Amino acid sequence: MSAAAGGRLAGRVALVTGAGGGIGRAIALRLGAEGAAVALMDLAAAREALSQTEAAVRESGARCASAVGDVADPGSVAQALAALQAALGPIDCLVNNAGLTGHIAALTRMSAAGWERELAVNLSGPFHLTQALLPGMVERRWGRIVNISSVAALGGLYYQAGYSASKAGLLGLTRTVVLEHARHGITCNAVLPGLIGTPAVLGMPPAVLNDAVALTPARRTGEPAEIASVVAFLCSPEAAFVNGAEIPVDGGGHLSPVVLGSGRELRERQAAQRGDGQLIATVPAACTVTERPTDAA
Ligand SMILES: NC(=O)c1ccc[n+]([C@@H]2O[C@H](COP(=O)([O-])OP(=O)(O)OC[C@H]3O[C@@H](n4cnc5c(N)ncnc54)[C@H](O)[C@@H]3O)[C@@H](O)[C@H]2O)c1
Repeated sequence: MSAAAGGRLAGRVALVTGAGGGIGRAIALRLGAEGAAVALMDLAAAREALSQTEAAVRESGARCASAVGDVADPGSVAQALAALQAALGPIDCLVNNAGLTGHIAALTRMSAAGWERELAVNLSGPFHLTQALLPGMVERRWGRIVNISSVAALGGLYYQAGYSASKAGLLGLTRTVVLEHARHGITCNAVLPGLIGTPAVLGMPPAVLNDAVALTPARRTGEPAEIASVVAFLCSPEAAFVNGAEIPVDGGGHLSPVVLGSGRELRERQAAQRGDGQLIATVPAACTVTERPTDAA
């Protein structure tokens, strides 16, 4: 899709954090293609990936600027925002996409530092960005905020207490922004991706990935562009009355009673229960899946 001067987001400036990553790049490209000028932010460590996103957005014909910034650090956020807004103008659409799974460990062995970093990036980061940009949106009586949460916010994740709690907390932040600012023409919604085929997800232990896909009604992982299209809608004028929505984009996966575990845990549980030859995934005892649904049915 090439940049559209008369697109749904023509005249708007949109910021995407974590824009060097798989989903962030797809969102940046899509918002640019819808006519927005696109501001990009990512960590210094991701500078090369950030430059690649910037080059791709420019190539599509959209106005674009990038800045290095750590969303967990309010000072760094302020510096990056000053540079980006000097280059492109006031930011109308904020996409809080930067996030990390920094610490996979059982709760009893989870380090406080690992927990705190996940909360700082995944939850405090969106807070810092939102707090910095809200006054301008209120003044202009128009704003769009899209928070990239996760289906992990709904069901929890084995061994990822920090990630899961931070993504659930982000839903609380989303709701509060709506309560305080819907009357100012601002919408704030959450997108909850399921398994999206980014390099990190495709690099998961095959046993874990295969079972997760088998229990996803769509029987596949999602594409980053499938997150981007929902974000573009939420940023558009057409979504003016959509506020406080929490939209899973997961091929229906949130309807399946599956709880992802580590590869080791999955193998151990399956080995223990394989007696009937039917068990296909690790799920809570109350809703064990014993029969694989047939695709032909
Ligand atoms: N890939 C999936 O299946 C999936 C599923 C559910 C939710 N999500 C969420 O989608 C978002 C994007 O994920 P992705 O798969 O593209 O991951 P990714 O790792 O490819 O991209 C994340 C980006 O965020 C950046 N980032 C990390 N910490 C940062 C910080 N402190 N300040 C600024 N930037 C920072 C990283 O450098 C990276 O470029 C994340 O919030 C993630 O939790 C992804």
